[in-house]
Amino acid sequence: MTTEDLLAGSSSRAEDLLAGSSSRADLVVVGTGVAGLSAALRARELGLRVVVVTKAGLGDGSTRWAQGGVAVALPGTADSVAAHVADTVAAGAGLCDEAVVRELVGGGPAAVAALRQRGAVFDAGPDGAPARTREGGHTAFRVIHAGGDATGAEVLRALAAAAVAGGLPVLERVVATEVLCDDAGAVAGLAVLGADGEPAVLPARAVLLATGGLGQLYAATTNPDVATGDGLALALRAGAAAADLEFVQFHPTVLHGGPGARGRRPLVTEAVRGEGAVLVDVAGVPVTAGVHPLGDLAPRDVVAAAITRRMAATGTDHVLLDATGLAGFAARFPTVWAACAAAGIDPATDPVPVTPAAHYHCGGVVTDSSGRSTVPGLYAAGEVARTGLHGANRLASNSLLEGLVVGAAAATAVARDLAGASPPGTARVIGAPQPMADRDALQQVMSTHAGIGRHARGLDAAAALLLAAPQRQVRSVADAEDAALTTVAAALLCAASARTETRGCHVRTDHPHHRQRWRRSITVRLDVAGRPVLDEHAAAGAA
Ligand code: SIN
Repeated sequence: MTTEDLLAGSSSRAEDLLAGSSSRADLVVVGTGVAGLSAALRARELGLRVVVVTKAGLGDGSTRWAQGGVAVALPGTADSVAAHVADTVAAGAGLCDEAVVRELVGGGPAAVAALRQRGAVFDAGPDGAPARTREGGHTAFRVIHAGGDATGAEVLRALAAAAVAGGLPVLERVVATEVLCDDAGAVAGLAVLGADGEPAVLPARAVLLATGGLGQLYAATTNPDVATGDGLALALRAGAAAADLEFVQFHPTVLHGGPGARGRRPLVTEAVRGEGAVLVDVAGVPVTAGVHPLGDLAPRDVVAAAITRRMAATGTDHVLLDATGLAGFAARFPTVWAACAAAGIDPATDPVPVTPAAHYHCGGVVTDSSGRSTVPGLYAAGEVARTGLHGANRLASNSLLEGLVVGAAAATAVARDLAGASPPGTARVIGAPQPMADRDALQQVMSTHAGIGRHARGLDAAAALLLAAPQRQVRSVADAEDAALTTVAAALLCAASARTETRGCHVRTDHPHHRQRWRRSITVRLDVAGRPVLDEHAAAGAA
């Protein structure tokens, strides 16, 4: 079996490729969530030779866990793209790129239609059209859903089925360790470790990073174990610019697991509030009264911060989500119901204890609306990317939408960019040792100092831990993850320290107000020693 066979889709076994010839793929996609599979499938349709790489199994990323749905202003409803754009921009707290918002939100209806053509089935309302719910920050019922609260799983099922049916080559348990460039600085391939830990090089004309987020920077998160910031670290090390890194969205309502609950925690979708549940503190006092005109359905940053303040005021580590007035909870929210049942809670009769946890990274690799990064031949799509759609706080359920729209657009961009371009030169493997902090210590320090409520001293303390991290060669998936976590934590802290104001999901207790001069994104790169630095524009603003 040669690489040629694999690129033609006649094999998906990693060892075939890793032992194969030196044929070059047009595109290597890293990640198998909504953005990665959307890009790979579209790239194949456009005639590109595509290989997909994942350190886990097909579809093992965050997409599968998305509950609420896909935000989309469907034609024939009272909603409009203009209203969806306005809500996205309002939630983004002054940092959205409005042209990008219009383009991506405007692409939603067609992207959803294409997904339905691939076989995704959304829950239907009484008229047979997709049923629509509401989430925080939305002024209209525009979130379509599947399986009640299992939307991500259905989106993934449809895309993965299309990938398998089309013979898309997917290399499972192969971890990317370095984006390789030629002497001119253009992408020329990807360095990987195979399942057996053997290093290999996948020559490629373009690489698309679709690795999801970085929830595992924190002790408690809604993200799966694989969400370790890999793509962001790969891009930064390849010289790409990243922006809005300080904006980590905490989901307001994650099932409270008691003190010390760690790792991936069950989400209680915002749609539960959208359909009537209310947030109260342990004394039964409403949490968001007087905080925002949309109350419990205010944008997520507002609700998460209100809960955090109320927990501090009441000396507790959770508040309560009272859904006892909702009829048919188990049928409408089967995933949430099962998680509650496993914890001995019946939402029909018991208020559900909830607490905020790390959920979504609003910033990432700087790209245009078609996934092009600042490095020629390197693309990014989905949570790993920063297109300008989310600004300082993502509007709920805009992420599956972004993955669908930008994933497909990135494939088109790759096809256009490669047409007529000469192939890259030889891929240079650097293979430098990477800083790797102890994961538990890193998660503790990030949770303590870089969650909701940050201040200069805490951010400095967290950065000091990372500076002291030993440098080691990457020899396993765990090493690659630890190195990624260390790199992205340092970059995030650099941006969070510079932003001396409170905006969106970035809450500074020592700078509690918006500042007009910070109504712009902060861009971070790595210097030659691998340390994060602000770009000149941001550094000037920080002075
Ligand atoms: C939720 O269902 O509350 C989460 C959806 C999202 O993060 O977009």
